[in-house]
Amino acid sequence: MPDIQIMPSILAADFGRLADGCVRAEAAGADQLHVDVMDGVFVPNISFGPDVVKMAAVSVSIPRNVHLMVMNPQNHIKAFAAAGSDTILIHVEARCDIPETLSAIRSMGKRAGITLNPETPAESVFQCLDERWVDEVLVMSVHPGFGGQKYLSYVEQKVAAIRRRADWVDISIDGGIDAETVIPAAAHGVNLFVAGSYLFKQEDMAAAIKDLRRSAQENYCRNL
Ligand code: DX5
Ligand code: ZN
Repeated sequence: MPDIQIMPSILAADFGRLADGCVRAEAAGADQLHVDVMDGVFVPNISFGPDVVKMAAVSVSIPRNVHLMVMNPQNHIKAFAAAGSDTILIHVEARCDIPETLSAIRSMGKRAGITLNPETPAESVFQCLDERWVDEVLVMSVHPGFGGQKYLSYVEQKVAAIRRRADWVDISIDGGIDAETVIPAAAHGVNLFVAGSYLFKQEDMAAAIKDLRRSAQENYCRNL
């Protein structure tokens, strides 16, 4: 079984005390920190840039999993790599040469990820499912742009299709993950879980992270 990991999304943290939010997540046992970058073009919202990744890199030592919801990621990967990203995820719907951009991320010594929106078919990433190009496939379980949305269960079929095709790749899921939705997500083959609002609203984030991880381990690939 691949490593089961929980990645709090700092989009749900208190923007007035973002560094504290990063430190809180690490202290609660997060495996990675998910950083949602939005350009206001690819998605209607604007969030933060490389300087927030830099802040996170000096605040925590856990890896930074940077999700670029950006129309032209090829113009920004260098800055995000230099800022301290560990994984840089681009959208398959973005306006760039996907294989070229993924190999550029890898050439900077970073893990490369490809993301697909809920309505984008799994087949759109099959061309990238090659260990030479990609480390992680991020399946969106909400329409990107905002935290706190409802989990879209129909994406589970895409997760299963990708998992059946590539047992070596990390599959992450992003949007509406909580104590209930983590179960079917894991059962269809997800091993990395982004959670924003569910985790940051907890009194005891450490207990919530532990419960998510245990549920995911108990149910991983049960429905494959
Ligand atoms: C949405 C972001 C997600 C979001 C997850 O565009 O990519 O990472 O912050 O937030 P929750 O877990 O609150 O749905
Ligand atoms: Zn995200």
